[in-house]
Amino acid sequence: VGKVVLYMSISLDGFIAGPNDELVRLHDWIFSGQSDRTGATSRWASGDPKDAEVIDEMFRTTGAVIIGRRTYDIGEPFWGPNPPFRVPCYVLTHRAREMQIRGETTFTFVTEGAESALKQARVAARHRNVSLMGAKVAQQFMKAELLDEIQLTVVPVLMREGIRLFENMGTKRVELERERVIESSGATHIKLRVVK
Ligand SMILES: NC(=O)c1ccc[n+]([C@@H]2O[C@H](COP(=O)([O-])OP(=O)(O)OC[C@H]3O[C@@H](n4cnc5c(N)ncnc54)[C@H](OP(=O)(O)O)[C@@H]3O)[C@@H](O)[C@H]2O)c1
Repeated sequence: VGKVVLYMSISLDGFIAGPNDELVRLHDWIFSGQSDRTGATSRWASGDPKDAEVIDEMFRTTGAVIIGRRTYDIGEPFWGPNPPFRVPCYVLTHRAREMQIRGETTFTFVTEGAESALKQARVAARHRNVSLMGAKVAQQFMKAELLDEIQLTVVPVLMREGIRLFENMGTKRVELERERVIESSGATHIKLRVVK
């Protein structure tokens, strides 16, 4: 079976977005080589091939995505008519909505909680991984010990304020094994296995 993986771009001081959801600086490494920031183009034009490799690997190994409703609502206008995921996506929410089909991507709105979303995503992903998007979503999975791997992209900036990733996860220490580090010109990609 596939893994449950969190991909997250994070500032050196631990923020994954600014106080008003500013994300552009943290995602510069993804879009540095292209003017279209929607991500809807099929090739990721990072300025540095090392960054492109990380993104390609993510899409290659991901069979389904679980997305928080805030990330979905913020992302929807940017993703355009053919969002980059191209796999079944499950949006965790309290507000039911009809399934949305955008190009090769489907968004199913799940109101029965994280475990239900994971069950559906695992079936859809088959042997591939389920990836997570959104801090609240990541925190729930971490707390419930459902996370297998974290791919952190550390961006050399101090955001100073905004949305933190590593909080509301309980108090139990989590050991991580560093599996790989890729240094690109604009970021450091650290692949970490969650030790169970
Ligand atoms: N740096 C990065 O790589 C990166 C990646 C992705 C996102 N982001 C940023 O992260 C921010 C969003 O993260 P966030 O933590 O604020 O929100 P989030 O995790 O995207 O979404 C949280 C919302 O999802 C719904 N939800 C979550 N768990 C649920 C559950 N178990 N049952 C029912 N509904 C549930 C709730 O919405 P409702 O109650 O309203 O339905 C909740 O308010 C944005 O600024 C986004 O741009 C950054």
